[in-house]
Amino acid sequence: MTQKRRAKISALGRFVPPKVVTNYDLAKIVDTNHEWIVERTGITERHMVERGTPTSELAAQALGDLLSKREMEADEIELIIVATVTPDMFFPSTACVVQNKVRAGRAWGFDVSAACSGFLYALTVGAQFIETGAHGKVVVIGADVMSSIVNYEDRATCVLFGDGAGAVLLEPSESDNIGILDYKHEIDGSGGQFLNMPGGGSLNPPSHETVDKKMHYVHQDGQPVFKYAVRKMGEVSRAILERNGYSGSDLDLFIAHQANLRIINAASEKLGLDESKVVKNIHKFGNTTAGTIPLAIGDAIDDGRLKKGSLVLFAAVGAGYTVGSVLSRWAY
Ligand code: UT7
Repeated sequence: MTQKRRAKISALGRFVPPKVVTNYDLAKIVDTNHEWIVERTGITERHMVERGTPTSELAAQALGDLLSKREMEADEIELIIVATVTPDMFFPSTACVVQNKVRAGRAWGFDVSAACSGFLYALTVGAQFIETGAHGKVVVIGADVMSSIVNYEDRATCVLFGDGAGAVLLEPSESDNIGILDYKHEIDGSGGQFLNMPGGGSLNPPSHETVDKKMHYVHQDGQPVFKYAVRKMGEVSRAILERNGYSGSDLDLFIAHQANLRIINAASEKLGLDESKVVKNIHKFGNTTAGTIPLAIGDAIDDGRLKKGSLVLFAAVGAGYTVGSVLSRWAY
């Protein structure tokens, strides 16, 4: 049997809007305070777009950053996959808008909806097109403008989220030992009730009533989501390591979805990881949903912790529930 070829991440681009909103800024508009937010979430500040800036803009900026770093033209891209829960519109897909914005004339594409696990799901989908030989250059983008769906009168949710985007390029790996090694994803729809945006879809089409009832905003029952995230992030991480013959001590880096510092700490403790192997940047970006993992990858490259040959585990838990993990041997 012919060995399928492996996909590797070969470049990364990022974008966060310049405006920074601190905990102190939020304390001026809702009944909260810096100390509570830091203690319960680890967040100090987050970036936010000017109202009306669409997700495609952040995604296109991140992709532009990737193209210039990789010294590559947009028309070399064959496929664009955008993970988001805040698409510019229901349709066309944000991938179509991005393709037009960056003039990727040869690319096709589509969006993936998996909330906070969206980037890892899109990464897995993109990798399949490389592994089968169908494509040689696939772009995967995680981008969200959470400020467009957050209720800034609800202190339990508005302090958590930020806006941001990251993009990676997938290409065939020259070595079977380098690149994306495995994935393990799960969904559990029974958790959908705890984190959702109930209005605007076919279940609750937009109406004066849906607006009055604030159904076009993120609704979250934080504690069940928190408990599920702590349990599942540990479970899925251990399972993917075990089935590849590894344990936590083999990992060079753990890059988890940045939803709450306490969730990241609990998962890394379960894996027995030293602090130095855990990427944490939630303090400066908050939860950017599909954007958190590529933004964290970028920080780990910058601080020199992610380098060629690093064994890195990505993990996420989010609305759905969705659970995702991807194991990779870093390529550059
Ligand atoms: O990324 C997608 C997946 N999402 C997640 O992973 C989020 C999971 N959940 C969480 O991270 C946490 O549940 C939260 C950070 C959302 C909340 O933390 P918590 O420790 O679960 O707090 P809580 O909801 O139990 O609230 C504790 C108290 C409550 O007051 P009482 O009832 O004890 O008097 C809240 O009203 O904290 C109060 N509270 C706040 N106080 C100040 C809630 N939000 C705030 C706030 N500032 N912003």
